[in-house]
Amino acid sequence: MRLGSLTLSSNLFLSPLAGYTNLPFRLTVREVGGLGLATTDLVNARSLLEKNSKALKLIETSPADRPLAVQLFGSVPEEMRDAAAQLETLGVASVDINMGCPVRKVCKVGGGSAMMTELDKTAALVKGMVEAVKIPVTAKMRLGWDDQNITAPDLARALENVGVAAIFVHGRTRQQGFSGTINLDGIRTVVEAVKNVPVIGNGDVTTPQAAKKMIDDTGCAGVSVGRGAFYNPWIFLHTLHYFSTGERLPEPSFAERVRVMCRHFDLMIEVFGEEHGCRMFRKVAPWYAKRFGPANEFNKQVVRIASRAEFLQVLDHYRRWREQFLDEAGELKPRFAPPPLVASFMQEPAVAGREHIPVPKGPVEVW
Ligand SMILES: Cc1cc2nc3c(=O)[nH]c(=O)nc-3n(C[C@H](O)[C@H](O)[C@H](O)COP(=O)(O)O)c2cc1C
Repeated sequence: MRLGSLTLSSNLFLSPLAGYTNLPFRLTVREVGGLGLATTDLVNARSLLEKNSKALKLIETSPADRPLAVQLFGSVPEEMRDAAAQLETLGVASVDINMGCPVRKVCKVGGGSAMMTELDKTAALVKGMVEAVKIPVTAKMRLGWDDQNITAPDLARALENVGVAAIFVHGRTRQQGFSGTINLDGIRTVVEAVKNVPVIGNGDVTTPQAAKKMIDDTGCAGVSVGRGAFYNPWIFLHTLHYFSTGERLPEPSFAERVRVMCRHFDLMIEVFGEEHGCRMFRKVAPWYAKRFGPANEFNKQVVRIASRAEFLQVLDHYRRWREQFLDEAGELKPRFAPPPLVASFMQEPAVAGREHIPVPKGPVEVW
């Protein structure tokens, strides 16, 4: 998989999830394997240029966190250009542009999803960035503002003409938020609108089979996964294996899930300090627990942890509590096992409407 001058080890990408795709999570996913490129949370271009401490924390990285894309957000061409140049100097592998944010304050001045409605202006902004750096510049968009304004195909074409290295497209409109299913036909129209630039499909991919279906049905060059990776940091490794062998690896065991969760927790403390790291992990641990089987006892306690010792205590208590749901072999009795994950676009519409992926807490109305 190539993004402009950048060669990636796989065509699987971690989508930006503001508040979640921080250094500890990226390192965790990378250690598990299979990921081609990870992206930071979105970063305000102006804040970066002003060396705002929050913006600098968002781009904090380490040698193991490679290759890394930083997602920029902004509407002032000079600021976006200069921020991209600054990121290149810092050794970032590629720069992504957020074209999905619908916050009025931002759209009013031409940023976020408003970029999807003003093609010429957006193309000029992107051109300025592409010309200022050697690293690839990519764009992340939705299908359009609403069903009446599916602008992604035209925008993708306009951006290809100014030298963008890839287009990421979430197969929903801005108006849809996270409701409904992913529109694979919509992603296909974006793929068909461009000549050479890779289009990366995104939305609701929770399994290797779903990643394959997205590629088969749309012709997209790769798949980007957000919430699915939060449930399941193994998704990239398992998908890569499935792509190359056709074999579906078994779900990770409880012990493996706990091992990776603990690693994620330790990295969180390393990067954010014990107190803040614990506070942040309160909203992360329940995502791992979604695949533990019965976990109410764990979820109730983990949201109060304030130290590493407390976290280990909660885990220890939970392990003992969970034993009541196990058979003699130490496996969850089938009736307690979590149901298999199925992506929205692999289900009957009626089922898909009922069972969508939970959206993590955060300003999700924004994405
Ligand atoms: C909590 C949350 C935060 C998000 N933050 C961003 C962001 O910073 N930039 C962005 O382009 N998209 C953001 N998104 C959208 C995701 O990158 C992705 O397009 C969307 O969640 C669909 O993919 P998924 O079903 O694999 O999660 C966010 C989504 C969620 C749920």
